[in-house]
Parts: sequence; structure tokens; C-alpha cells
Amino acid sequence: MKIEQMQNLSFDELDELVRPAPEVVEFEEVAHKMVSRRGFLGGGAAVGASAFVMGSTTLAAGNALAASTTTDSRLAFSMVKANALDAVTVPEGYKWEVVVSWGDPLWSNAPAFDSATGGTGASQELAFGDHNDGMALFSKDGKQIMAINHEYTNPKTLHANRADAMPINADDVRKNIAAHGVSVIEVAQRGGKWGVVQDSPYNRRITADTEMDITGPARGHKWMQTSADPKGLVAKGTWNNCGSGQTPWGTYLTCEENFNGYFSASDANYKMSDGFKRYSISSKGRYDWALADARFDLVKEPNEPNRFGYVVEIDPLDPTSRPKKRTALGRFKHENAEVAIASNGHVVVYLGDDERGEFLYRFVSKHKYLAGGNNRDLLEEGTLYVAKFHDNNRGEWLALTPKTTGMTDAEIAIHTRLAASKVGATTMDRPEWVASHPHKVEVYCALTNNKNRGVKPNEGGDEAPATGANPRVKNNFGQIVRWSPMNEDHTSAEFKWDLFVLAGNPAVFDDANAGSKNINQDNMFNSPDGLAFDSKGLLWIQTDGNYSNEKDFKGQGNNQMLVGDPETGEIRRFLVGPNECEVTGFAWNPGRTTMFISIQHPGEKGNSHWPEGGQSAPRSSVIAISREDGAVIG
Ligand code: FEO
Ligand code: CA
Ligand code: CA
Repeated sequence: MKIEQMQNLSFDELDELVRPAPEVVEFEEVAHKMVSRRGFLGGGAAVGASAFVMGSTTLAAGNALAASTTTDSRLAFSMVKANALDAVTVPEGYKWEVVVSWGDPLWSNAPAFDSATGGTGASQELAFGDHNDGMALFSKDGKQIMAINHEYTNPKTLHANRADAMPINADDVRKNIAAHGVSVIEVAQRGGKWGVVQDSPYNRRITADTEMDITGPARGHKWMQTSADPKGLVAKGTWNNCGSGQTPWGTYLTCEENFNGYFSASDANYKMSDGFKRYSISSKGRYDWALADARFDLVKEPNEPNRFGYVVEIDPLDPTSRPKKRTALGRFKHENAEVAIASNGHVVVYLGDDERGEFLYRFVSKHKYLAGGNNRDLLEEGTLYVAKFHDNNRGEWLALTPKTTGMTDAEIAIHTRLAASKVGATTMDRPEWVASHPHKVEVYCALTNNKNRGVKPNEGGDEAPATGANPRVKNNFGQIVRWSPMNEDHTSAEFKWDLFVLAGNPAVFDDANAGSKNINQDNMFNSPDGLAFDSKGLLWIQTDGNYSNEKDFKGQGNNQMLVGDPETGEIRRFLVGPNECEVTGFAWNPGRTTMFISIQHPGEKGNSHWPEGGQSAPRSSVIAISREDGAVIG
């Protein structure tokens, strides 16, 4: 496939093309034999297309949760209907506005956004990046500072539908690099309207070229050394920043997801190592940055990919601070980083690896959090664990240590996936965001979908059985799993789990694909991705899935945002996004009267003019949602 064709692929499609089937770990072989022998597994029923057992223990959560239209609901809004409009739709009594869009200048000396070209490398370096995703809000002296990710770029929109969408010169690469990374911006409400405070001393762009310190076990390791950084201490940049996290000590966590798609090989005979293959690194990436920077050429700089795929910690309130790559949190396709302080004071970070058949992780800090103390480097040292879900609604965290893996701490940090396979972790249906309940010790993870689940390798699948927390074959709709750590302690070795919801389409199916009982024709959706709790304890769910609105997905409309009540299981649709977008990222202002979210890649296939309408090119944007009466949201 030519590189022009590669750039038309989603990251997911690129992985399919590049990556061999995941390794089958011992636990799965055992489980698979059990399925063959008995046809089902006790406790969590194996859910086949024609064998949907609503009464199973696995689906107990959905069971108790009749779709609610009652007035005792905690959800203070009426449900928005699914639609396929090129618009943002919010409930009656709510309003929304654009806060900032791709290309908006952050400083007054920068040129205005040029819609005819999408700007230059120089203008992009002074402007809000593209494809905004996860975010967090920080308050200081009454000011609101937003840190926000720029996940990737769509070459076509980035270059305003120029005939050559891929980079054709060094300035194109410069613009691409500057459109990635993170923006730190002060936002304020002026004249009743939210916007960026241009020239705020907090405004900052961190891009795929910004220097940052490598910390933790991988720091200085020989696999981290490059010709530009022979000691392996300073990485250049961060990219594919997907979900986010926020620490109680006031820092922002940005998560490098599909870092693999940026490399290429100048030698057609380049032989990919097994370590690279496990991360779907390809000799033909989705971008062509090697055109202008040799570090993206696997032949010339073979260790560069080892320096990406991490969580990066940023102090948004100190514009001169250097970001820190936290290699102790492992290297994989990080979705978000959900921080919880355990009852014993250790910091726990929950981490999903978003690829079919990959794992769910937990980091536990070595040192304890001390309110008001110096907590700045708690993420530098600790132990990584990976989840194993048993079929009896119990699970355990398996430690990744030199003893359990036979690998050094640095090797575990750099080849985390290989380490996790060695201990027999459970392969998952693409772990996306993890959200920790603010009022109790309970954690949720969106498993977005996995069409290969339970499918034989000779039919394109990976043989992982449909069981336990991943109970459905050819899982096109996704589910949300939740777990309660034993003894209400986030550092416990064991947990209990169930499914909060199994998404589906009850208008089309009456089998497993109809979803759990808290899904009905009014609130149905597919592919949960973003997940966050508000301070009231309501679970906000965002989707990045199939928006065709036909066949299996008929009636589900565009990507959307819903709210779930963890106590009753009720789910209501709160918002529908414009055409061909995903809805992602969350932040609330201190009084929870404004909610900020990202509308990412509207018109990714060319069919949107959001937000400006007319014949304008679509632009990823942050929007602010509030109630017309100014009351609290949700
Ligand atoms: Fe960037 Fe897994 O979503
Ligand atoms: Ca996501
Ligand atoms: Ca996604």
C-alpha cells in the first residue's frame, strides 16, 4: 500500500494491517478449552450471537436496570433523540458555544486562522492545535487554565483539501508537528461568552518537537539512546495525545496513544523486530515526517520509537517547566490516566491500552501522597500491575516485576506489553478511558469494541474466547466494565467486577447484540470511549464509533454523549455531535455550571461544515455547555 493510501486509514485500520494476531496466553488457552468442553463458562456466560443469557451473573448490573423514564431519576434533563444532523444537539434548557477551534491564535502577534490553506508551520506554532481530545481545568487566583491534548491530524483537513494531502515539503511537516501535542490556555467568560485569553502568561504550546525529560526506569537505558540524545535522557516531543489525567498535586497527565503510526523505513528490506511488531510499528507509517526529520526513519534512528508510548506529566501553572515522561507507567497505547489516592496513601493510576486484545493496567506509587507535601515525583517510581478477569466476577492484579517477568525494570517499562503477556493478563476489548467514582471505591472502564473477539484466526480473529468481562463474539458495540477493589483499597490485589452496560441495538437485534437491559431503542449507542465522573457521582459516557446510522447501527445516529447513574443503571443521551465527529474529553468549571468537551474531527470523511456552517471547512473545537438558567449541569 502506498503512503497516500495509508493516510486514509484510521489508526485502528493501520493496526489491523500491520499487526500479527496477539499472542495467545496460557490462561486463554485454558479458558478456550473450557468453552469447547462445556459450551459456556460458569458465572460469566459466554455470550454468542444466539445465546444471550440476560440472567447471568455477568449481566446482573444490566438486569436490575430497567430503562427509566420515571420522575425519581437523578438525571436533571430530558433525553436528546439520536440524530444525524451536522450540528451539536443538547437537551431543552441547555445551550452550547465554541470556546476555541483548531488554528485559533493564542497570542495577538499571530496571524488569524487562514481557512483557505489551514495556515503554515509558523502560524500553527502560535495557534491551538488540531483534533483536541482529553483535557483538564486548573484554577489559580480565580483564573481558569485549561490543558488540552491534540491527538492527531487529518492530512486532508490540515492542508485545507489541497490535492496533496500528505506533507510535500519541510513546512508541511513543521505544521503537522506543531498541530500535535498539548495546548495550555487560559480560558475566561467575557461578555457572557467563553474564549481563550490571548497573551495570557499561562498560554503555551507543547508539540511533537518540545524537549522533555525521560524519568523512571527507562531513563538512560541503551534502548532509549539516539544520535541526538546519546544518554537517553531527553525525548523530543509528545504526540498522539489521547485521553488525560489530573493529579491532586496540580499537574496534567497527557497520554501517548497511537505513537506507532509516525515512523517509516527508508530501506525496503528493513526488518521489523518483534518488539516493534508488538506495537504495530510499520515501515510505512500514517504520516511522512521522515521527509523532513530523519528521527522518524527507523533505519536511521532505530531507538526513536522506544521513546514514545508513555504518559507525560506537565505543570500547567508553570509555563517554563519541562514536561516529564513517566516511564514507570509503562509503554503502550495509553488512553487516559485516572488517578486515585488509596486509603493507605499510595497513588494509584488506572491505565487502558487501546488495541484489540491488549490489557488494562494499574500503577501503584512507591511513595505516599502527602496533602500539602512535595508530591511532584510520585509517578517516577512504583509497580505496574495488569488485570486478570476471572469468570466468577472476581479479578486480580498481576504485578510486573523482574521476578514475575524475568525482565529488568527498564525492559518492563519499554516492552510493557510483552511483560504483561508473560504473566497471563486477560486480553480486553480495547480498553479506553477509566473513571474512578468520586464517592466510593469503584472504578469503570469503557471497552469500546472488538470485532475479532471469539473469532477464529483463520477467519481474521485472534482466538481470544468471548467470556468474562469480554463476553460477546464479534463485539461491535462495546461495554463498560466496573470493579470494586477488595477492602475498599485501590492497592488491593483482588477485586469484584460486573458489567455496568453492554451496548447494543435492540431495534435491530434480539440476541446478545441488543445489549443489556439498561439499553433500549431510545438510549442506544455503540463504542463507548470517553468516561468521567462529575462531582455528583454521575458517569458521563462519550462515543467514538460507527456513525453510519444504518444496518447494525441503524437509529444510533452520530457520535454522542450520555449520562449514566451508577446506582440505578439508568442511561440517558445528553448530546449528539455533528457529522463524522467523535465526542471526547471532559472538564467542568469549579461551580459545575459549565461543562467543556471536545468535538474532534467533524467531517473526517469530508461531510461536515461544523462549526461555522455554509461551505466552511470543519474544525475540531472545544465547546462549553451550560444551562440557560445558569444552574448546575447534569
Ligand atoms: Fe484516542 Fe482510544 O482513543
Ligand atoms: Ca479515545
Ligand atoms: Ca477512540
